[in-house]
Amino acid sequence: MEYIVETKGLTKRFGKEKAVSELDMKIPRGEIYGFLGPNGAGKTTTIRMLLGLMKPTSGGIEIFQKDLKKERIDILTRVGSLVENPSYYPHLTAYENLEAWRKILGVPKGRIQEVLGIVRLSDAANKKVKGFSLGMKQRLGIAVSLLNNPELLVLDEPTNGLDPSGIIEIRNLIKQLATESGMTILISSHLLAEIDQLATTVGIVTKGKMIFQDSIDVLRRFAKQNIVLKVSDSEHAWRSLLAKGIKADLQDGKLSLSDSTNERIADAVRHLVHDGFSIYRVEEEKRSLEDIFLQMTKEEDRV
Ligand SMILES: Nc1ncnc2c1ncn2[C@@H]1O[C@H](COP(=O)(O)OP(=O)(O)O)[C@@H](O)[C@H]1O
Ligand SMILES: [Mg+2]
Repeated sequence: MEYIVETKGLTKRFGKEKAVSELDMKIPRGEIYGFLGPNGAGKTTTIRMLLGLMKPTSGGIEIFQKDLKKERIDILTRVGSLVENPSYYPHLTAYENLEAWRKILGVPKGRIQEVLGIVRLSDAANKKVKGFSLGMKQRLGIAVSLLNNPELLVLDEPTNGLDPSGIIEIRNLIKQLATESGMTILISSHLLAEIDQLATTVGIVTKGKMIFQDSIDVLRRFAKQNIVLKVSDSEHAWRSLLAKGIKADLQDGKLSLSDSTNERIADAVRHLVHDGFSIYRVEEEKRSLEDIFLQMTKEEDRV
């Protein structure tokens, strides 16, 4: 497998605290890698190290299979990024802001109209940035990050603070970039729903540690089903099942079977009917990814 980003034991300490701890991140080419974790998990710190903005305490970073320490400039000219509230000249237009960056990056003038088109800001090109909505500013930030036609795009919580329509615009834009230009994209978020709708590969971090890293499909397979029974007198029904050796949970007046094979469900129903309980509903309940995410991050807490 060819990795566009590969870190080995990446660690960052602030004083005694390890903000990032022994992180082995692997981003295959062409993927949208969702870097997911609660606030304070170490996402921004990791991203800053990947972009050469911060020195790791220990561990290595390879981007495009080159050592970031040794080939920093070569690597970074092929990377685009948007990290936390970028600053613009508010009194200049979108075009003029892009022009300032274009000069720094040394890319052809024609690229400005191209990136404005990609982020759908062509119509606002000559408007001053101070009148922009947060969503428009974010799209301008992505336009800047695209100026050098990067092979790897790194976006740190690009939808933070946006309204729902702004979020959808950014999401569609990211999908479009991945499919149309084959760019590899690293996008961080503290919201699972965000990553769920975008990412092809997911890395979950909490307290600086990677606790899951695989394709989104593997993550979805964790969403195993529970069978929920709505019965009369649920507490007694629950005790009666336990007495028969059938594992069940009692939640909000409902019974939930964790072993949901056909035989176990049939067993449970048969016992309950036999013991005189009425069964009102037998339903399948899929655990949401959100539940899994919460559970994963909670389990890590107990360690
Ligand atoms: N420059 C810094 N100095 C000291 N502590 C920091 C610094 N930057 C981040 N941290 C701490 O590192 C941890 C991870 O922060 P961060 O990488 O910003 O998390 P995330 O982006 O996932 O919300 C937090 O506990 C944060 O307080
Ligand atoms: Mg952050």
